[in-house]
Amino acid sequence: MTHYPLLRPRRLRLTKTIRDLVAETRLSPQDFIMPLFVKNEGEKEPIMSMPGQYRYPVQEILQVIQNAMDQGVKAFMLFGVIPDELKDHYARRAYDPQGPVPQALKLIRRELGWEPTIFTDVCICGYASHGHCGIPVEKHGRKIIDNDSTLSIIARMAVVHAEAGADFVAPSGMMDGMVKAIREALDKEGYTDTGILSYAVKYASGFYGPFREAAGSAPRFGDRRSYQMDPRNALEALKEASLDVEEGADMLMVKPALAYLDVIRLIKSSFPEYPLAAYNVSGEYSLVKAAAEKGWIDEKMVVFEILTAIKRAGADVIITYHALEAAKWIREGYSPF
Ligand code: PBG
Repeated sequence: MTHYPLLRPRRLRLTKTIRDLVAETRLSPQDFIMPLFVKNEGEKEPIMSMPGQYRYPVQEILQVIQNAMDQGVKAFMLFGVIPDELKDHYARRAYDPQGPVPQALKLIRRELGWEPTIFTDVCICGYASHGHCGIPVEKHGRKIIDNDSTLSIIARMAVVHAEAGADFVAPSGMMDGMVKAIREALDKEGYTDTGILSYAVKYASGFYGPFREAAGSAPRFGDRRSYQMDPRNALEALKEASLDVEEGADMLMVKPALAYLDVIRLIKSSFPEYPLAAYNVSGEYSLVKAAAEKGWIDEKMVVFEILTAIKRAGADVIITYHALEAAKWIREGYSPF
């Protein structure tokens, strides 16, 4: 029998310098996309269910972006918020060039040029009186969320965003064929350089609660289970991702992140050549903030652990409300590891 010495993995954990040297995953402010809620008018308003997050009037967005860029965060995702009185069944304001997202984009391009990379959420739920991501219709004697009539609306919305200066449009409504419809419309209008980050794998999740308060986009009847994915399914994510790849998506997304780390790993290993984003969604953020406010967790440590885990699982990019704070902490040299 051969005698081996006792093997000691602990040697690689002995000092912080050694641990840093052999770390497999490193967080950087460049990994983050910072979500921003933008509206046409009024004062900056705090979002109650998301401490530290605000709905910003268009003019204030410049300062927020400049400040984040100073911390090394250079990518942003814009969500438009409009008053309920302006919403209608067909979400006509979703493609209004005077709406908050196109207006913010124009201002950003005029004042800051193309250094910030801007993604725009493309979905009708925040602009529709019913709050759904597709148009509700009566069909064959039942009410459904219609797929095909929604496509032309989101395609139009994407073109308006491209025209105003979006780098990437990000369709989030989980309508079949949305990437194809948008790609065709963008190309037809000459926006061949505008990319598509598809919310390819988006689950019907309880973790979107705070976002729906923030964007006023909760469904007014029913739920989103006829279009968003069933949390029990992982293989189905392969189908959604491969369709979006065929339809012309440049980047893919898995959403939410934390309860779906297995799906992030699956998509990254199946489509390694496509940059993968993971959305660390509103409910995931608010859980951390609420527990931190009560003093039940060490917020910085938990945030670093969460973001690192999402990256370790296979995400190249993390859309997170923690972006600004985490970037600051990284730049201050903080690390819990
Ligand atoms: C809109 C959309 C949602 C989110 C992003 N885009 C909400 C939803 O599907 O209800 C959720 C983001 C978050 O919770 O942070 N389709």
